[in-house]
Amino acid sequence: AAVVGRRIRSRRDWRRAVEVVRELEAACGTSVNRLRQVVDAMAVEMHAGLASEGGSKLKMLLTFVDKLPNGSEKGIFYALDIGGTNFRVIRVHLGGRRSGILRHNVERNSIPQHLMTSTSEELFDFIAMSLKQFVDREEEKTSEPSLVSRRELGVTFPFPVKQRCVSSGILMKWTKGFSVADMIGKDVSESLQQSMIKKDLGSMRVAALVNDTVGTLAVGHYNDEDTVAAVIIGTGTNACYLERADAIIKSQGLLMASGGMVVNMEWGDFWSSHLPRTRYDIDLDAESPSPNDQVFEKMISGMYLGDIVRRVVLRISQESGIFGSASSRLSTPFILGTPLMATMHQDDTPDLREVAAILNDVLGIADVSLKARKLIVNICDIITHRAARLVAAGIVGILKKIGRDGSSGVAGGRAKGGGGASSSGGGKSRTVVAIEGSLYTNYTLFREYLNDAVAEILGKEFSPFVILKVTEDGSGIGAALLAASHSPNSADM
Ligand code: GLC
Repeated sequence: AAVVGRRIRSRRDWRRAVEVVRELEAACGTSVNRLRQVVDAMAVEMHAGLASEGGSKLKMLLTFVDKLPNGSEKGIFYALDIGGTNFRVIRVHLGGRRSGILRHNVERNSIPQHLMTSTSEELFDFIAMSLKQFVDREEEKTSEPSLVSRRELGVTFPFPVKQRCVSSGILMKWTKGFSVADMIGKDVSESLQQSMIKKDLGSMRVAALVNDTVGTLAVGHYNDEDTVAAVIIGTGTNACYLERADAIIKSQGLLMASGGMVVNMEWGDFWSSHLPRTRYDIDLDAESPSPNDQVFEKMISGMYLGDIVRRVVLRISQESGIFGSASSRLSTPFILGTPLMATMHQDDTPDLREVAAILNDVLGIADVSLKARKLIVNICDIITHRAARLVAAGIVGILKKIGRDGSSGVAGGRAKGGGGASSSGGGKSRTVVAIEGSLYTNYTLFREYLNDAVAEILGKEFSPFVILKVTEDGSGIGAALLAASHSPNSADM
Protein backbone atom coordinates (compact mmCIF):
# COMPACT_ATOMS: atom_id res chain seq x y z
CA ALA A 1 0.00 0.00 0.00
CA ALA A 2 2.88 2.33 0.82
CA VAL A 3 4.36 1.78 -2.62
CA VAL A 4 1.04 2.44 -4.32
CA GLY A 5 0.59 5.59 -2.23
CA ARG A 6 4.01 6.83 -3.22
CA ARG A 7 3.30 6.17 -6.88
CA ILE A 8 0.05 8.09 -6.77
CA ARG A 9 1.74 10.95 -4.97
CA SER A 10 4.57 11.02 -7.46
CA ARG A 11 2.13 11.05 -10.37
CA ARG A 12 0.24 13.90 -8.75
CA ASP A 13 3.52 15.77 -8.13
CA TRP A 14 4.58 15.35 -11.66
CA ARG A 15 1.25 16.55 -12.99
CA ARG A 16 1.48 19.65 -10.80
CA ALA A 17 5.03 20.41 -11.96
CA VAL A 18 4.03 20.16 -15.60
CA GLU A 19 1.02 22.36 -14.93
CA VAL A 20 3.23 25.10 -13.45
CA VAL A 21 5.47 25.02 -16.52
CA ARG A 22 2.55 25.07 -18.96
CA GLU A 23 1.07 28.00 -17.08
CA LEU A 24 4.43 29.77 -17.30
CA GLU A 25 4.63 29.09 -21.00
CA ALA A 26 1.19 30.57 -21.60
CA ALA A 27 1.95 33.66 -19.52
CA CYS A 28 5.22 34.21 -21.41
CA GLY A 29 3.57 33.98 -24.79
CA THR A 30 5.11 36.19 -27.46
CA SER A 31 3.09 35.51 -30.57
CA VAL A 32 4.02 37.75 -33.46
CA ASN A 33 0.80 39.67 -32.87
CA ARG A 34 1.73 40.30 -29.27
CA LEU A 35 5.20 41.41 -30.37
CA ARG A 36 3.70 43.82 -32.89
CA GLN A 37 1.73 45.40 -30.05
CA VAL A 38 4.99 45.84 -28.15
CA VAL A 39 6.58 47.34 -31.28
CA ASP A 40 3.77 49.88 -31.53
CA ALA A 41 3.87 50.66 -27.82
CA MET A 42 7.61 51.22 -28.01
CA ALA A 43 7.24 53.65 -30.92
CA VAL A 44 4.40 55.49 -29.16
CA GLU A 45 6.36 55.80 -25.91
CA MET A 46 9.37 57.07 -27.84
CA HIS A 47 7.22 59.85 -29.26
CA ALA A 48 5.88 60.66 -25.80
CA GLY A 49 9.33 60.67 -24.22
CA LEU A 50 10.62 63.02 -26.92
CA ALA A 51 7.63 65.33 -26.61
CA SER A 52 8.12 66.36 -23.01
CA GLU A 53 10.30 65.72 -19.99
CA GLY A 54 8.62 62.91 -18.03
CA GLY A 55 6.19 62.30 -20.89
CA SER A 56 6.89 58.58 -20.73
CA LYS A 57 8.68 55.95 -18.66
CA LEU A 58 11.12 56.04 -21.57
CA LYS A 59 13.38 58.88 -20.60
CA MET A 60 14.70 59.45 -24.13
CA LEU A 61 17.75 61.27 -22.78
CA LEU A 62 19.57 63.81 -24.91
CA THR A 63 23.23 62.91 -25.29
CA PHE A 64 24.47 66.01 -27.13
CA VAL A 65 26.29 63.62 -29.41
CA ASP A 66 25.49 65.26 -32.71
CA LYS A 67 28.23 63.76 -34.80
CA LEU A 68 29.30 60.18 -34.88
CA PRO A 69 32.88 59.20 -35.62
CA ASN A 70 33.49 58.62 -39.30
CA GLY A 71 37.12 57.61 -39.50
CA SER A 72 38.71 61.03 -39.88
CA GLU A 73 39.57 61.28 -36.18
CA LYS A 74 43.25 61.59 -35.38
CA GLY A 75 45.36 61.58 -32.27
CA ILE A 76 45.79 59.79 -28.98
CA PHE A 77 42.78 59.45 -26.75
CA TYR A 78 42.02 57.75 -23.50
CA ALA A 79 38.85 56.04 -22.43
CA LEU A 80 37.47 54.86 -19.18
CA ASP A 81 34.82 52.19 -19.47
CA ILE A 82 33.01 51.79 -16.18
CA GLY A 83 31.04 48.56 -16.33
CA GLY A 84 29.37 47.28 -13.22
CA THR A 85 31.94 45.60 -11.04
CA ASN A 86 34.71 46.17 -13.57
CA PHE A 87 36.22 49.02 -15.39
CA ARG A 88 38.68 49.23 -18.20
CA VAL A 89 41.14 51.91 -19.13
CA ILE A 90 41.99 52.25 -22.77
CA ARG A 91 44.41 54.20 -24.88
CA VAL A 92 43.66 54.56 -28.54
CA HIS A 93 45.82 55.94 -31.31
CA LEU A 94 43.64 57.09 -34.18
CA GLY A 95 45.26 57.52 -37.53
CA GLY A 96 42.64 59.46 -39.45
CA ARG A 97 41.21 58.52 -42.86
CA ARG A 98 42.35 55.19 -44.24
CA SER A 99 44.48 54.37 -41.21
CA GLY A 100 41.71 53.82 -38.68
CA ILE A 101 42.64 52.61 -35.23
CA LEU A 102 46.43 52.28 -35.25
CA ARG A 103 46.77 50.83 -31.83
CA HIS A 104 44.81 50.38 -28.72
CA ASN A 105 45.80 49.12 -25.33
CA VAL A 106 43.38 47.97 -22.71
CA GLU A 107 43.74 47.27 -19.04
CA ARG A 108 41.04 45.65 -16.99
CA ASN A 109 40.45 46.41 -13.33
CA SER A 110 37.84 45.36 -10.86
CA ILE A 111 36.19 47.62 -8.38
CA PRO A 112 36.67 46.32 -4.82
CA GLN A 113 33.36 45.23 -3.37
CA HIS A 114 33.38 47.73 -0.48
CA LEU A 115 33.68 50.68 -2.88
CA MET A 116 30.43 49.80 -4.60
CA THR A 117 28.49 50.86 -1.55
CA SER A 118 30.83 53.56 -0.28
CA THR A 119 30.99 57.22 -1.28
CA SER A 120 31.37 58.64 -4.74
CA GLU A 121 34.63 60.27 -3.71
CA GLU A 122 36.21 57.00 -2.68
CA LEU A 123 34.95 55.30 -5.80
CA PHE A 124 36.27 57.94 -8.17
CA ASP A 125 39.56 58.32 -6.27
CA PHE A 126 40.14 54.64 -6.83
CA ILE A 127 39.29 54.85 -10.51
CA ALA A 128 41.43 57.97 -11.00
CA MET A 129 44.37 56.31 -9.31
CA SER A 130 44.17 53.29 -11.63
CA LEU A 131 43.86 55.62 -14.58
CA LYS A 132 46.92 57.57 -13.50
CA GLN A 133 48.98 54.38 -13.18
CA PHE A 134 47.86 53.29 -16.62
CA VAL A 135 48.68 56.65 -18.22
CA ASP A 136 52.14 56.68 -16.66
CA ARG A 137 52.91 53.15 -17.78
CA GLU A 138 51.61 53.72 -21.30
CA GLU A 139 53.49 56.93 -21.83
CA GLU A 140 56.69 55.47 -20.50
CA LYS A 141 56.30 52.52 -22.83
CA THR A 142 55.52 54.49 -25.94
CA SER A 143 57.61 57.58 -25.14
CA GLU A 144 55.03 59.80 -26.79
CA PRO A 145 54.04 62.09 -23.92
CA SER A 146 54.94 65.22 -25.84
CA LEU A 147 52.21 64.41 -28.34
CA VAL A 148 49.62 65.09 -25.71
CA SER A 149 49.96 68.35 -23.91
CA ARG A 150 46.36 67.96 -22.97
CA ARG A 151 44.97 64.50 -22.66
CA GLU A 152 41.42 63.88 -23.74
CA LEU A 153 39.33 61.27 -22.02
CA GLY A 154 36.10 59.61 -23.08
CA VAL A 155 34.11 58.07 -20.25
CA THR A 156 31.52 55.35 -20.58
CA PHE A 157 29.09 55.44 -17.71
CA PRO A 158 26.29 52.88 -18.17
CA PHE A 159 23.56 54.48 -16.09
CA PRO A 160 20.90 57.13 -16.76
CA VAL A 161 22.59 60.51 -16.89
CA LYS A 162 20.94 63.81 -17.57
CA GLN A 163 23.52 65.47 -19.78
CA ARG A 164 24.23 69.18 -19.72
CA CYS A 165 26.52 68.81 -22.71
CA VAL A 166 28.45 66.01 -24.34
CA SER A 167 31.12 66.10 -21.65
CA SER A 168 29.11 66.22 -18.46
CA GLY A 169 25.88 65.23 -16.82
CA ILE A 170 24.10 64.33 -13.62
CA LEU A 171 23.39 60.79 -12.44
CA MET A 172 19.60 60.41 -12.28
CA LYS A 173 19.46 57.05 -10.52
CA TRP A 174 21.38 53.82 -10.22
CA THR A 175 20.23 50.69 -12.00
CA LYS A 176 21.46 47.07 -12.04
CA GLY A 177 21.78 46.94 -8.26
CA PHE A 178 24.50 49.56 -8.01
CA SER A 179 24.26 51.96 -5.09
CA VAL A 180 26.54 54.78 -4.08
CA ALA A 181 23.82 56.94 -2.64
CA ASP A 182 25.61 60.29 -2.49
CA MET A 183 26.32 60.12 -6.22
CA ILE A 184 22.72 60.58 -7.30
CA GLY A 185 22.16 64.14 -8.50
CA LYS A 186 25.90 64.77 -8.84
CA ASP A 187 27.80 65.61 -11.98
CA VAL A 188 29.72 62.48 -12.96
CA SER A 189 32.46 64.24 -14.90
CA GLU A 190 33.01 66.82 -12.23
CA SER A 191 33.40 64.17 -9.53
CA LEU A 192 35.84 62.26 -11.69
CA GLN A 193 37.71 65.41 -12.65
CA GLN A 194 38.19 66.30 -8.98
CA SER A 195 39.62 62.87 -8.25
CA MET A 196 41.90 63.14 -11.28
CA ILE A 197 43.30 66.42 -10.01
CA LYS A 198 44.00 64.82 -6.64
CA LYS A 199 45.83 61.99 -8.36
CA ASP A 200 47.98 64.35 -10.40
CA LEU A 201 46.08 63.91 -13.63
CA GLY A 202 45.05 67.51 -13.96
CA SER A 203 46.13 67.61 -17.58
CA MET A 204 43.43 65.14 -18.50
CA ARG A 205 40.02 66.43 -19.48
CA VAL A 206 36.74 64.57 -19.79
CA ALA A 207 35.84 65.33 -23.40
CA ALA A 208 32.88 62.97 -23.62
CA LEU A 209 30.69 61.32 -21.01
CA VAL A 210 28.56 58.70 -22.71
CA ASN A 211 26.20 55.87 -22.04
CA ASP A 212 27.51 52.42 -23.02
CA THR A 213 24.93 52.19 -25.80
CA VAL A 214 26.21 55.46 -27.23
CA GLY A 215 29.78 54.15 -27.19
CA THR A 216 28.59 51.08 -29.03
CA LEU A 217 26.77 53.19 -31.61
CA ALA A 218 29.95 55.24 -32.12
CA VAL A 219 32.05 52.16 -32.88
CA GLY A 220 29.29 50.67 -34.99
CA HIS A 221 29.12 53.84 -37.04
CA TYR A 222 32.90 54.11 -37.25
CA ASN A 223 32.96 50.64 -38.85
CA ASP A 224 29.79 50.94 -40.89
CA GLU A 225 28.12 54.24 -41.67
CA ASP A 226 24.69 52.67 -42.06
CA THR A 227 24.58 52.04 -38.31
CA VAL A 228 21.73 54.05 -36.82
CA ALA A 229 21.04 52.39 -33.47
CA ALA A 230 22.78 50.36 -30.78
CA VAL A 231 21.49 47.87 -28.27
CA ILE A 232 23.13 46.42 -25.17
CA ILE A 233 21.97 43.17 -23.64
CA GLY A 234 24.27 42.36 -20.77
CA THR A 235 23.80 42.84 -17.04
CA GLY A 236 21.28 45.49 -18.04
CA THR A 237 19.62 46.33 -21.32
CA ASN A 238 19.24 49.59 -23.18
CA ALA A 239 19.26 51.16 -26.62
CA CYS A 240 20.14 54.42 -28.29
CA TYR A 241 19.63 55.69 -31.83
CA LEU A 242 20.14 58.63 -34.07
CA GLU A 243 17.15 60.97 -34.06
CA ARG A 244 16.38 64.02 -36.17
CA ALA A 245 16.73 67.24 -34.20
CA ASP A 246 13.25 68.44 -35.12
CA ALA A 247 11.71 65.24 -33.75
CA ILE A 248 13.12 65.99 -30.31
CA ILE A 249 10.33 68.34 -29.40
CA LYS A 250 11.27 68.68 -25.73
CA SER A 251 14.54 70.35 -26.69
CA GLN A 252 12.42 73.25 -27.95
CA GLY A 253 14.42 73.83 -31.05
CA LEU A 254 17.69 74.24 -29.18
CA LEU A 255 19.20 71.54 -31.30
CA MET A 256 18.10 72.75 -34.67
CA ALA A 257 21.61 73.79 -35.59
CA SER A 258 22.68 70.19 -35.77
CA GLY A 259 20.91 67.75 -38.05
CA GLY A 260 20.35 65.11 -35.46
CA MET A 261 21.32 63.78 -32.11
CA VAL A 262 21.81 60.44 -30.46
CA VAL A 263 19.07 59.73 -27.93
CA ASN A 264 19.68 57.37 -25.02
CA MET A 265 16.32 55.69 -24.59
CA GLU A 266 16.90 53.97 -21.24
CA TRP A 267 14.54 51.33 -22.54
CA GLY A 268 15.12 49.17 -19.49
CA ASP A 269 12.43 51.31 -17.90
CA PHE A 270 9.94 50.74 -20.73
CA TRP A 271 6.53 49.63 -19.60
CA SER A 272 3.47 48.54 -21.54
CA SER A 273 0.37 46.56 -20.65
CA HIS A 274 1.23 44.38 -23.66
CA LEU A 275 4.32 42.98 -21.96
CA PRO A 276 3.78 39.31 -21.10
CA ARG A 277 4.46 39.63 -17.37
CA THR A 278 4.10 36.70 -15.00
CA ARG A 279 3.70 36.32 -11.25
CA TYR A 280 7.43 35.63 -11.08
CA ASP A 281 8.26 38.96 -12.71
CA ILE A 282 5.89 40.76 -10.40
CA ASP A 283 7.42 39.12 -7.31
CA LEU A 284 10.97 39.73 -8.49
CA ASP A 285 10.14 43.37 -9.05
CA ALA A 286 8.31 43.80 -5.75
CA GLU A 287 11.20 42.27 -3.79
CA SER A 288 13.84 44.34 -5.61
CA PRO A 289 15.27 47.55 -4.13
CA SER A 290 13.51 49.49 -6.89
CA PRO A 291 9.93 48.26 -7.42
CA ASN A 292 8.17 49.41 -10.59
CA ASP A 293 11.50 50.44 -11.99
CA GLN A 294 13.25 48.94 -15.02
CA VAL A 295 10.42 46.50 -15.63
CA PHE A 296 11.49 45.73 -19.22
CA GLU A 297 15.08 45.19 -18.09
CA LYS A 298 13.92 42.84 -15.33
CA MET A 299 12.32 40.59 -17.97
CA ILE A 300 15.33 40.62 -20.29
CA SER A 301 18.79 41.21 -18.95
CA GLY A 302 21.51 39.04 -17.51
CA MET A 303 21.11 40.36 -14.02
CA TYR A 304 17.62 38.89 -13.77
CA LEU A 305 16.97 35.94 -16.12
CA GLY A 306 18.57 33.36 -13.86
CA ASP A 307 16.56 34.59 -10.93
CA ILE A 308 13.27 34.26 -12.79
CA VAL A 309 14.17 30.64 -13.47
CA ARG A 310 15.04 30.13 -9.80
CA ARG A 311 11.64 31.47 -8.80
CA VAL A 312 9.83 29.03 -11.07
CA VAL A 313 11.89 26.10 -9.80
CA LEU A 314 11.25 27.21 -6.22
CA ARG A 315 7.50 27.21 -6.79
CA ILE A 316 7.61 23.77 -8.36
CA SER A 317 9.62 22.45 -5.46
CA GLN A 318 7.10 23.93 -3.01
CA GLU A 319 4.08 22.54 -4.82
CA SER A 320 5.40 19.17 -5.86
CA GLY A 321 7.99 16.76 -4.60
CA ILE A 322 9.80 16.30 -7.86
CA PHE A 323 12.93 18.06 -6.60
CA GLY A 324 12.96 16.15 -3.32
CA SER A 325 12.90 17.98 -0.02
CA ALA A 326 13.07 21.76 -0.27
CA SER A 327 16.56 23.19 -0.45
CA SER A 328 17.26 26.45 1.34
CA ARG A 329 19.63 27.52 -1.37
CA LEU A 330 16.74 27.62 -3.79
CA SER A 331 15.26 30.43 -1.68
CA THR A 332 18.39 32.56 -1.99
CA PRO A 333 17.82 35.44 -4.42
CA PHE A 334 20.24 35.64 -7.35
CA ILE A 335 21.99 32.40 -6.44
CA LEU A 336 21.40 31.15 -9.98
CA GLY A 337 23.27 33.46 -12.33
CA THR A 338 22.30 33.79 -15.97
CA PRO A 339 25.55 32.16 -17.26
CA LEU A 340 24.61 29.01 -15.31
CA MET A 341 21.11 29.19 -16.66
CA ALA A 342 22.55 29.39 -20.20
CA THR A 343 24.73 26.36 -19.51
CA MET A 344 21.72 24.34 -18.39
CA HIS A 345 19.63 25.56 -21.29
CA GLN A 346 22.29 24.58 -23.83
CA ASP A 347 23.36 21.33 -22.20
CA ASP A 348 23.78 18.90 -25.09
CA THR A 349 24.83 15.84 -23.13
CA PRO A 350 22.27 13.07 -23.62
CA ASP A 351 21.63 12.68 -19.90
CA LEU A 352 21.72 16.43 -19.17
CA ARG A 353 24.74 16.02 -16.96
CA GLU A 354 25.41 19.76 -16.73
CA VAL A 355 21.87 20.42 -15.58
CA ALA A 356 22.25 17.80 -12.88
CA ALA A 357 25.58 19.25 -11.76
CA ILE A 358 24.29 22.81 -11.49
CA LEU A 359 21.12 21.72 -9.69
CA ASN A 360 23.26 19.82 -7.26
CA ASP A 361 26.18 22.21 -6.75
CA VAL A 362 24.37 25.53 -6.93
CA LEU A 363 20.81 24.91 -5.88
CA GLY A 364 21.39 21.99 -3.55
CA ILE A 365 18.95 19.71 -5.38
CA ALA A 366 20.32 16.18 -5.76
CA ASP A 367 19.22 13.10 -7.69
CA VAL A 368 16.88 14.77 -10.14
CA SER A 369 15.35 12.43 -12.71
CA LEU A 370 16.08 12.96 -16.39
CA LYS A 371 12.44 13.89 -16.92
CA ALA A 372 12.69 16.62 -14.30
CA ARG A 373 15.97 17.86 -15.76
CA LYS A 374 14.22 18.24 -19.09
CA LEU A 375 11.62 20.32 -17.37
CA ILE A 376 14.38 22.64 -16.11
CA VAL A 377 15.70 23.04 -19.65
CA ASN A 378 12.15 23.82 -20.73
CA ILE A 379 11.84 26.57 -18.11
CA CYS A 380 15.15 28.16 -19.18
CA ASP A 381 13.96 28.03 -22.76
CA ILE A 382 10.66 29.77 -22.02
CA ILE A 383 12.34 32.61 -20.12
CA THR A 384 15.10 33.18 -22.67
CA HIS A 385 12.75 32.89 -25.64
CA ARG A 386 10.53 35.60 -24.17
CA ALA A 387 13.48 37.87 -23.34
CA ALA A 388 15.05 37.60 -26.78
CA ARG A 389 11.75 38.23 -28.53
CA LEU A 390 11.02 41.28 -26.42
CA VAL A 391 14.38 42.74 -27.41
CA ALA A 392 13.50 42.05 -31.03
CA ALA A 393 10.23 43.93 -30.61
CA GLY A 394 12.11 46.82 -29.02
CA ILE A 395 14.52 46.97 -31.95
CA VAL A 396 11.72 46.96 -34.49
CA GLY A 397 9.99 49.64 -32.39
CA ILE A 398 13.00 51.90 -32.94
CA LEU A 399 13.06 51.11 -36.65
CA LYS A 400 9.39 51.94 -36.83
CA LYS A 401 9.94 55.25 -35.08
CA ILE A 402 12.59 56.27 -37.59
CA GLY A 403 10.74 54.88 -40.57
CA ARG A 404 12.99 51.96 -41.28
CA ASP A 405 10.74 49.02 -40.52
CA GLY A 406 9.30 48.80 -44.01
CA SER A 407 5.80 49.76 -42.94
CA SER A 408 4.15 52.50 -44.91
CA GLY A 409 2.61 55.45 -43.11
CA VAL A 410 5.83 56.04 -41.28
CA ALA A 411 5.45 56.96 -37.62
CA GLY A 412 8.25 59.43 -37.21
CA GLY A 413 9.77 60.20 -40.59
CA ARG A 414 13.07 58.94 -41.85
CA ALA A 415 16.26 59.05 -39.87
CA LYS A 416 18.85 61.34 -41.26
CA GLY A 417 22.55 61.15 -40.86
CA GLY A 418 22.68 57.38 -40.93
CA GLY A 419 25.20 57.58 -43.71
CA GLY A 420 25.38 58.26 -47.38
CA ALA A 421 24.84 54.78 -48.75
CA SER A 422 21.26 54.39 -47.64
CA SER A 423 18.99 56.65 -49.48
CA SER A 424 16.63 54.55 -51.56
CA GLY A 425 12.90 55.15 -51.15
CA GLY A 426 10.13 53.25 -49.41
CA GLY A 427 12.10 52.78 -46.21
CA LYS A 428 14.11 50.10 -47.96
CA SER A 429 17.55 51.24 -47.04
CA ARG A 430 20.26 49.19 -45.47
CA THR A 431 19.91 49.67 -41.74
CA VAL A 432 22.48 48.43 -39.28
CA VAL A 433 21.91 48.00 -35.56
CA ALA A 434 25.03 47.54 -33.44
CA ILE A 435 24.64 45.01 -30.64
CA GLU A 436 26.80 44.34 -27.65
CA GLY A 437 26.49 42.40 -24.43
CA SER A 438 27.09 38.91 -23.17
CA LEU A 439 23.55 37.68 -23.73
CA TYR A 440 23.85 38.30 -27.44
CA THR A 441 27.49 37.35 -27.88
CA ASN A 442 27.78 34.35 -25.54
CA TYR A 443 24.29 32.87 -25.36
CA THR A 444 23.73 31.19 -28.70
CA LEU A 445 20.05 30.37 -28.26
CA PHE A 446 19.29 33.89 -27.07
CA ARG A 447 20.95 35.29 -30.18
CA GLU A 448 19.12 32.88 -32.49
CA TYR A 449 15.74 33.63 -30.94
CA LEU A 450 16.40 37.34 -31.24
CA ASN A 451 17.51 37.19 -34.87
CA ASP A 452 14.57 34.96 -35.81
CA ALA A 453 12.07 37.23 -34.08
CA VAL A 454 13.35 40.35 -35.84
CA ALA A 455 12.97 38.57 -39.18
CA GLU A 456 9.54 37.29 -38.20
CA ILE A 457 8.22 40.72 -37.19
CA LEU A 458 9.67 42.53 -40.19
CA GLY A 459 8.61 39.89 -42.69
CA LYS A 460 10.52 38.24 -45.51
CA GLU A 461 10.44 41.17 -47.83
CA PHE A 462 11.93 43.69 -45.48
CA SER A 463 14.11 41.79 -43.04
CA PRO A 464 17.09 41.50 -45.46
CA PHE A 465 17.57 45.26 -45.14
CA VAL A 466 18.05 45.16 -41.40
CA ILE A 467 21.39 43.91 -40.15
CA LEU A 468 22.22 43.22 -36.54
CA LYS A 469 25.97 43.50 -36.11
CA VAL A 470 27.98 42.52 -33.08
CA THR A 471 30.19 45.39 -32.03
CA GLU A 472 32.89 44.03 -29.84
CA ASP A 473 34.46 46.27 -27.24
CA GLY A 474 32.22 49.05 -28.45
CA SER A 475 31.43 50.86 -25.29
CA GLY A 476 35.05 51.52 -24.35
CA ILE A 477 36.64 52.40 -27.66
CA GLY A 478 33.45 54.23 -28.57
CA ALA A 479 33.97 56.68 -25.74
CA ALA A 480 37.49 57.38 -27.03
CA LEU A 481 36.14 57.88 -30.55
CA LEU A 482 33.53 60.30 -29.26
CA ALA A 483 36.13 62.16 -27.23
CA ALA A 484 37.95 62.48 -30.54
CA SER A 485 35.00 63.51 -32.68
CA HIS A 486 33.97 66.13 -30.13
CA SER A 487 37.48 67.37 -29.48
CA PRO A 488 39.07 70.47 -30.91
CA ASN A 489 42.38 68.59 -30.79
CA SER A 490 41.35 66.01 -33.34
CA ALA A 491 42.64 66.96 -36.75
CA ASP A 492 40.68 66.58 -39.97
CA MET A 493 37.43 67.68 -38.38
C1 GLC B 1 20.96 49.90 -17.48
C2 GLC B 1 21.36 51.36 -17.46
C3 GLC B 1 21.63 51.86 -18.85
C4 GLC B 1 22.64 50.96 -19.55
C5 GLC B 1 22.14 49.53 -19.53
C6 GLC B 1 23.11 48.57 -20.18
O1 GLC B 1 19.74 49.77 -18.11
O2 GLC B 1 20.35 52.13 -16.84
O3 GLC B 1 22.11 53.18 -18.82
O4 GLC B 1 22.82 51.39 -20.85
O5 GLC B 1 21.93 49.11 -18.19
O6 GLC B 1 24.35 48.54 -19.55
